[in-house]
Amino acid sequence: MMKSLGDQLQKRMKLIPAVSQRTDFEVLDLCMAPGGFSSTVLKHNPMAKVFGISLAESEGGNTVLLRNWQEDTRVDIKFMDITMLSTDLGFPEFALQDHPSASKFSDTIPYEGHSFDLAFCDGQVISPEKQGQDMKHAATRLICAQLILALQRIKTGGTFVVLLHQTYRPQVVRLMEAFSHFSKVILSKPYPYHAKRSSFYLVAKDIDPQHERACRLLRDLKNSWGACTAEAFGFEFWQDAVEEPATGDHVEDMSEILDSFGEKLVSLAKPAWKIQKEALEKQFLSNGL
Ligand SMILES: C[S@@+](CC[C@H](N)C(=O)[O-])C[C@H]1O[C@@H](n2cnc3c(N)ncnc32)[C@H](O)[C@@H]1O
Repeated sequence: MMKSLGDQLQKRMKLIPAVSQRTDFEVLDLCMAPGGFSSTVLKHNPMAKVFGISLAESEGGNTVLLRNWQEDTRVDIKFMDITMLSTDLGFPEFALQDHPSASKFSDTIPYEGHSFDLAFCDGQVISPEKQGQDMKHAATRLICAQLILALQRIKTGGTFVVLLHQTYRPQVVRLMEAFSHFSKVILSKPYPYHAKRSSFYLVAKDIDPQHERACRLLRDLKNSWGACTAEAFGFEFWQDAVEEPATGDHVEDMSEILDSFGEKLVSLAKPAWKIQKEALEKQFLSNGL
């Protein structure tokens, strides 16, 4: 399924250049297992390199199904919980506290100093039964962690592919609006896997990670990960570490965002809504509802 999903994205969005165009294409695949997107990258550009991070199977993560990946010099995979990389995510203090959960955090900075042409952020929260715990704010912590890691490693001109849910949710609208300032945003709803669901991919091309709005988004994502993590683990001190807004920063309220971005949002989301509407109609009508 994930391979065909990657092929659909490639056909419509041209994310992966052919070998004739690039022989040094490098991809960060966050939450990569089973590895469908990585396999699509290597199929369309056999000289590309993929650098994955995924939750270990022993922690409830998926199995990597990429053929011969242990022997393949084009593939590197690190198994870790990206939501616990507190230093990389902006809060090294979390691992240093006198608190029973402090040792669960890691100061590892995977692929430190490396930058990438394309980043996939396709994480989905593991069910509490599989992971052995029911973590508060799990979905927010996961999307923030993916975006922070990817924003800190993307090359100027690079591309993001991000799995999101509900085009109309305020946090998602804010995210799309922010991306529209420092990249070219397109939405994609691969058929049939995401057709009936609210899920879709945000594809952001030609990213400028140094843009003031990209820096502001990075700071907001870190603060959000910090707040959710502090609440989930019962830390009290986290606010001391929060990065303050720069002088003159103006945080738009939703009505301001809709005034400036509403029409663009509707034009971006309309094709995805059409796919979902038609798929749901088909399902309900075939069930005689
Ligand atoms: C839908 S799958 C990704 C599929 C993948 N993009 C592909 O192309 O095959 C979601 C992945 O998120 C991973 N995941 C969930 N929570 C994670 C975490 N906290 N850290 C790292 N990986 C995580 C899961 O283990 C799973 O492999």
